[in-house]
Amino acid sequence: MKTYSIALIPGDGIGKDVTESAWAVLQRVARKRKFELDGTTLPWSCAYYKQTGAMMPEDGIETLRAFDAIYLGAVGWPAEVPDAVSLHGLLLPIRKAFVQYANIRPHRLLPGVTGPLRAQSFDILCIRENTEGEYSGAGGRVHTNSQDEVAVETAIFTRKGVERIIRFGFEQARARRGRLASVTKSNAQKYSMVFWDEVTRDVAREYPDVEVSHYHIDAMAARMVMAPETLDVVVASNLFGDILTDLGAAIQGGLGFAASANINPDRTAPSMFEPVHGSAPDIAHLGIANPIAAIWSGAMMLEHLGQPEAAKDVMNAIEACTATGVGTVPGKDRTDAITEAVLAAID
Ligand code: NAD
Ligand code: IPM
Ligand code: MN
Repeated sequence: MKTYSIALIPGDGIGKDVTESAWAVLQRVARKRKFELDGTTLPWSCAYYKQTGAMMPEDGIETLRAFDAIYLGAVGWPAEVPDAVSLHGLLLPIRKAFVQYANIRPHRLLPGVTGPLRAQSFDILCIRENTEGEYSGAGGRVHTNSQDEVAVETAIFTRKGVERIIRFGFEQARARRGRLASVTKSNAQKYSMVFWDEVTRDVAREYPDVEVSHYHIDAMAARMVMAPETLDVVVASNLFGDILTDLGAAIQGGLGFAASANINPDRTAPSMFEPVHGSAPDIAHLGIANPIAAIWSGAMMLEHLGQPEAAKDVMNAIEACTATGVGTVPGKDRTDAITEAVLAAID
């Protein structure tokens, strides 16, 4: 029987609840489709940091490299560990070390979910650059705690980094409805974003069959609310993509529905799958987190591992669940009840 080794990092807060839920669904579909998911749970989290002084062991990245895929719940417990410490100690280094440069985030309404917009039909695939740009971590502070203090955070965009994400976006657009929207702020940011626009125009020549549009981030934010049905693939830098995908989550009904895949397209290292949302300290331990985003992310993992039928089973089960109204209204159904409904639909 084909076996896949999966590193499970439940993390903090609702990350633990939604990982448990997604893992139950993944195990059920693996049994049905006759393959094995061999999970190893790693306790790396803010609680782990409090015990050890680090978010993961020194050889954490090397440990993860041995797995076929990584599944992550959510990281962050800002009341006890500063976010800049926890995220730069676990999630962000994994994305970078494993060259997971394409962060794929689908935004569409599931059956039974109405969302906040008039538009009731849209299908957007956000492709977020995931390893550089505004998240490069280059910068510093001088004259700290004085009136002369200066803080600098440099966004680094490389030709290699921009070209590969744009090309990835074009490939996705070609496989979908043939439209790509590139998002920048090249009216204000005259180096990096003008460069991004140029690279997009260059790469576009290789894809004459794909229709390209250029948007500024502010205009794109408005368009996603006013006319989301006009969008197909949306490609954006790390920070812009981060913000647009919480907006994407909102228009699809909430963060409980937004899935994501951090992909290394060259398969030189494991890819990582996680919901868009964070650890949600405000609802942690209440058993009311919506696990659908996490389960959907699990389906994206199965697709990546080469189990498309199992991935389809999971998506069908999610849709069967929401079509009956279960999990569609924030706070109405408990995590367990939604999980049970999806499990039942798999069988
Ligand atoms: P968040 O996504 O955790 O929560 C934002 C709001 O959405 C909260 O009101 C929360 O209750 C709600 N929400 C989120 N997921 C939900 C779900 N599945 N079901 C129902 N409601 C849900 O964002 P935040 O509050 O800004 O961040 C909390 C912590 O998580 C911080 O430490 C932050 O840095 C971290 N974070 C981690 C990740 C990640 O690990 N990938 C992503 C985002 C934020
Ligand atoms: C996300 C999160 C992370 C990001 C944070 C927690 C660093 O918001 O995955 O969207 O900005 O990438
Ligand atoms: Mn985010």
